[in-house]
Amino acid sequence: MVRVHANGLDWVPAGVGETTAALAGAETVGGLVAVALAALGAGVRERGGPLPAGGPLAVERAIAKMDPLPVDGIGAEAAIAELSAVLATGSADPVDPWCAAHLHCPPLAVAAAADLVASVLNPSMDSWDQAPAASALERALTDRVARLCYPRAERPDALVTSGGTESNLTAVLLARETLGPDLVVVCGDNSHHSVARAAWLLGLPRPITVPTNRDRLDPDRLAATLATLDRPAVVIATAGTTNSGAIDPLAAIAEVARAAGAWLHVDAAYGGALLFSSCRLAQLAGIDQADSIALDLHKLGWQPIAAGMIACRDTALTAKLATNADYLNAADDTEAGLPDLLGRSLRTSRRPDAFKIAVTARALGTAGLGELVDRCCDTATQVASAVTAHPRLRLWGEPSLSTVLLRPRAADESDDGDALIASVRRGLLDDGIAVLGRATMPDADGTSRLWLKLTLLHPHATPEHYLPLLDLVADKADRCR
Ligand SMILES: Cc1ncc(COP(=O)(O)O)c(C=O)c1O
Repeated sequence: MVRVHANGLDWVPAGVGETTAALAGAETVGGLVAVALAALGAGVRERGGPLPAGGPLAVERAIAKMDPLPVDGIGAEAAIAELSAVLATGSADPVDPWCAAHLHCPPLAVAAAADLVASVLNPSMDSWDQAPAASALERALTDRVARLCYPRAERPDALVTSGGTESNLTAVLLARETLGPDLVVVCGDNSHHSVARAAWLLGLPRPITVPTNRDRLDPDRLAATLATLDRPAVVIATAGTTNSGAIDPLAAIAEVARAAGAWLHVDAAYGGALLFSSCRLAQLAGIDQADSIALDLHKLGWQPIAAGMIACRDTALTAKLATNADYLNAADDTEAGLPDLLGRSLRTSRRPDAFKIAVTARALGTAGLGELVDRCCDTATQVASAVTAHPRLRLWGEPSLSTVLLRPRAADESDDGDALIASVRRGLLDDGIAVLGRATMPDADGTSRLWLKLTLLHPHATPEHYLPLLDLVADKADRCR
């Protein structure tokens, strides 16, 4: 496509074919998207299941057939067709209900399409002159999300992040900037590994870890730990643990943190989606007492990665990220009214991830999102009941969100039950039949054991989709015994 500039000049890509080096625009991208989607569909059909069969070697062999950095290119259409097919054939595909290991969601079509629009226009969120509408839209969305998290706060704020990891890092940073450099992180042993990394990255001491009970942080134990400290603390609670989806008792934890003068951060990367569900919202009671909250819509929000957020109870807290780079937010530009976006992230160049979230939210509304959240949680509850009723499986505990932990009874009768479970999981991966997760969790007798994990994020899958999988797991475990 040739684009004519207002000054009358046009441009044609030089040296390589017009299509191959064409810039992104509605027509040029449309043609390539059609080619890519056809190849993608063929790749998905060729894979036939949630994962390529044959393990890492088979995938590496397919990739080794082409040079990803040739001297002479093969052209845009050929390259996108070839690599889209390779990627689709070799993907772990969360659109398949049996791809249920991680907080790895099937993206909604509307969100994926919106992400394409963002890629074509390529706004960069570090200055207004690179992203006028995208920055206004991001502000409007973050204001709404902040109010959803903090309905009673006067000046809540929210920032867009690349996910739970960056949200947790930002929270610990803001806590340190507020409470001082002696800060120590106090978290449950159920907290996400990014919490300890945040402390490490910020030069803070290793977090003090409080033992949990059934994957939940115990407020009394937390209070006892905080009472021993002679330095400021940031308490990290979790609303939706990675292993089991458990939600810490947030209201009681908030009271303990407040009494100790600690910052409270709630990592709600998984469970924050309950904010959309009128019938499950009560599970988050007390979340608005936190100083900061991590959210992550590329988990229970059906967004393509990345779609993280952090909400804070007051804009004075987020303002601590303010920074200056003359080429992006010169003081006189800001005084003249150009919005200053640079201090709304730890990053500089930044994708307009708010765009796909806003498109999705406009399309479904919070009620529609809540309905999808409820479907996943209801499915998990019913799958858990099916595990309980299954003669050859047992359940770790009732799901709080959409995670089901189960253990084949064959593992309990084996000399090394954990090894058996690990090999059942790897066997299913190797066959390309199912992608199940794993979690080491205390059993009813207090002994840590390995469990298989189903993280159910597919909003259109029903319990019936999973019943044959339960039988398959039990059969595999029986055979491994
Ligand atoms: C509870 C929790 N917090 C944070 C994260 C990190 O999120 P991300 O992978 O988006 O950085 C995860 C990831 O699974 C998580 O489960």
